Amino acid sequence: MQSPLNGRRLLLALSGGIAAYKVAELVRLLVKAGAEVQVLMSEAATQFITPVTLQALSGRPVVLSQWDAAAPNAMQHINTSRAADAMLIAPASADMIARLAQGRADEIVSLTALARPREGCPLLVAPAMNREMWSHPATQRNLAQVQADGATLLGPGCGEQACGEVGDGRMLEAAELFDALEAFFTPKRLAGRRLLVSAGPTYEAIDPVRGITNRSSGKMGFAIARAAQRAGAQVTLVAGPVALPTPRGVTRIDIESARDLLAAVLPLAPQQDAFIATAAVADWRPAAVAEHKIKKDGSGATPVLAFTENPDVLATVAALPDAPYCVGFAAESEKLLEHARAKRLRKNIPLIVANLGPATFGRDTNALLLVDAAGHRELPLAAKDELAEQLIAELATRLDAPR
Ligand code: CTP
Repeated sequence: MQSPLNGRRLLLALSGGIAAYKVAELVRLLVKAGAEVQVLMSEAATQFITPVTLQALSGRPVVLSQWDAAAPNAMQHINTSRAADAMLIAPASADMIARLAQGRADEIVSLTALARPREGCPLLVAPAMNREMWSHPATQRNLAQVQADGATLLGPGCGEQACGEVGDGRMLEAAELFDALEAFFTPKRLAGRRLLVSAGPTYEAIDPVRGITNRSSGKMGFAIARAAQRAGAQVTLVAGPVALPTPRGVTRIDIESARDLLAAVLPLAPQQDAFIATAAVADWRPAAVAEHKIKKDGSGATPVLAFTENPDVLATVAALPDAPYCVGFAAESEKLLEHARAKRLRKNIPLIVANLGPATFGRDTNALLLVDAAGHRELPLAAKDELAEQLIAELATRLDAPR
């Protein structure tokens, strides 16, 4: 899958901070994704990581000073910023943020940030500092100013700091910064839209230690939530028990049973533009949950479980008077198209996405069949992330079309 960073020209500027070590990995990720990376370093930054390291990883000499005579016109700050699609300052120290807030121009990083064309070369800032420096009113004031001037803030994260203290101010990890940059360059086809996504299996308790679940990994639903968020939607992800990290910027609600899922989804559904039901909901649950663990009694007799039907979450949402655009997922083991068609009509939804369940559970790839009133279309085998992007593009077109 081609990264939205492929072919992008990035200015990556470092100011002084221990977090500079993370930038080496970030440069590697960016270059691998096909971005052209021009590194700039303040003098303080060179105390933490060498320009040689970043030159080797980016494949370009690092710009270290406004007095560098290498450029024929001796105007590095103008040349570099005219040839870039965005500028990221990472790490952005408290001092650098103060400089940006004041519009200072006495060293190469703040000078370039000031000299860049603001429309054509947006500024992103990834702060890195001790938690006391971060929470200081001066830093917060400067940061508010920098954002009011148009910069996008990436992070910071919270956690253990190089100084041994714990709190806010840690620079995001290289992979997180990479993810945020990809998101920044993703076209915002779902801007202003709200999306509700259900994902993963449900868990239906038998007794306090046992239950019935299924092999859904949640990967497809999480990939859809991530792609929708990147496309600018406000995303709520209702997830059954899965061990997957929450995509950046997505609101997550954890649930266990089908009834939990219904209770979480129903109050949210009317405010949504779309509901994408990827969850593998248990059709039945044990009719009664034993209060204590069911024990063997030594006779060899096996317990007999009685079942009761679960509510159909998708059909319930689709039947609401103010229902969002509903997309169902059908996991089948045979007769994909036939079952998908019947299921779409039964649930009264405009679109159903069918896949062969047992072959795809837990894997990173899938092949999908889109079935609507007009017919069907195949999305051939691809990574789930890639399919999620194709589905989101499809959904954006459908939501934009007059209904
Ligand atoms: N679904 C739901 N609530 C249920 C069962 C299913 O919301 N109780 C949703 C799923 O999230 C999915 C779609 O319905 O989007 C189809 O799920 P699937 O399990 O394939 O269909 P079922 O309705 O269970 O039909 P069948 O058991 O006949 O295959």
